[in-house]
Amino acid sequence: MEIIIVPTPTEVGRVAAARVASVVAMKPSAVIGLATGSSPQGLYSDLKRRVQAGDISFVDAHGFALDEYVGISLDHPESYASVITRDVVVPLGFDPARVQVPDGRANDLESAARAYDAAIRASGGIDVQILGIGTNGHIGFNEPTSSFASRTRIKTLAPLTREANARFFDSIEQVPMHCMTQGLGTILEARQLLLVAQGSAKAKAVAAAIEGPLSSFVPGSALQLHQHATVVLDEAAAAELQLADYYRYTYANKPTWQLDQ
Ligand code: F6R
Repeated sequence: MEIIIVPTPTEVGRVAAARVASVVAMKPSAVIGLATGSSPQGLYSDLKRRVQAGDISFVDAHGFALDEYVGISLDHPESYASVITRDVVVPLGFDPARVQVPDGRANDLESAARAYDAAIRASGGIDVQILGIGTNGHIGFNEPTSSFASRTRIKTLAPLTREANARFFDSIEQVPMHCMTQGLGTILEARQLLLVAQGSAKAKAVAAAIEGPLSSFVPGSALQLHQHATVVLDEAAAAELQLADYYRYTYANKPTWQLDQ
């Protein structure tokens, strides 16, 4: 796992965006796994800047969202379908027909979940999966004790997650109780994982995921099983890492041919 510690949240976005940009530059039809929430906002803004500058294009790229609430209407401003359209599809110029979000309104949710995994596979698989991490260590909405082998499926959101996401709704009661999320097994099949985290509230979860034991109790520790996982952190999110100096040292001495990889 590569751990990159940078001074500011803006720098997290810039470094992570450079990674996504290099994937798309090599493969314009790349399949991008898309996270929602606050963590990837800087990354998406930096990608938007690159699109506007004419440096990259997502016109031929494909996108798969990580997760969606169950039972929320498609046009609700906080459905992840709406969020992905607003934060990613429109500003980055994706073809909306090439971007999918799990169907949290399906009558048969289990079939819809299986179909989502099948669609990812049919696309050729995710080239780079963007991830945030919850304060309880979740990635996607794989809450603690999610199986490392799990596929896209329905999960019950942890009370802590509903509390955290209440900021997007008028009250916590309005935050849906259930979600459909790519499983940890699904996420681990991506060719590259790119997790971004900023702020001290994430420091414990980040340290547990990177340096703690591999445990379904900390779903983010699944990154340790992946051969190409990168974590980009600001100083506050990196504050609990025991080997922070070593990560700074390895990044400072990264061979130039390996930068952006
Ligand atoms: C979002 C997702 C979640 C978030 C996590 C952190 O699609 O799957 O895992 O990445 O809850 O959320 P923020 O970034 O809002 O702190």
